[in-house]
Amino acid sequence: MKIILGADHGGYELKNHLTEWLKQQGHEVKDTGVFSSDSVDYPDMTRPVVEGVLSNDFERGILVCGSGVGVNISANRFKGIRAVTCHDVVMARLSREHNNANIVTFGGRFIAKELAIEILSVWLKTDFLAGRHQIRIDKIEKLEK
Ligand code: RB5
Repeated sequence: MKIILGADHGGYELKNHLTEWLKQQGHEVKDTGVFSSDSVDYPDMTRPVVEGVLSNDFERGILVCGSGVGVNISANRFKGIRAVTCHDVVMARLSREHNNANIVTFGGRFIAKELAIEILSVWLKTDFLAGRHQIRIDKIEKLEK
């Protein structure tokens, strides 16, 4: 799968860990930074990942900040993005099956690396169920301004 990642300084370490794991799993990965733990503003780190997903150059996106919240709010400002912060595997599964989430976000300061990998693994392999869920997503898109 083609996957694009990004993080602010709060997500720097976890983003690097996820990037390495994804490569080991055979995914094609683009890491858009950050490439140091220097402080940056998370909205600036969100845009490249969002654009990668919306252009269809990448099938899924991953964003990491300190809590997972700032990058989630920023990404969901873009029409067509369905970003979810996942800190457990059930949410990961449901966000794919019901919501067709195209970006997952993590809080690098709140989740163990091993759990993040477990969640990401489920999130990547779970398919959207479509049907009645597509009708609801169509309604989300009608809410967008
Ligand atoms: C940065 O200190 C922190 O605010 C950011 O990583 C994120 O947690 C925001 O939601």
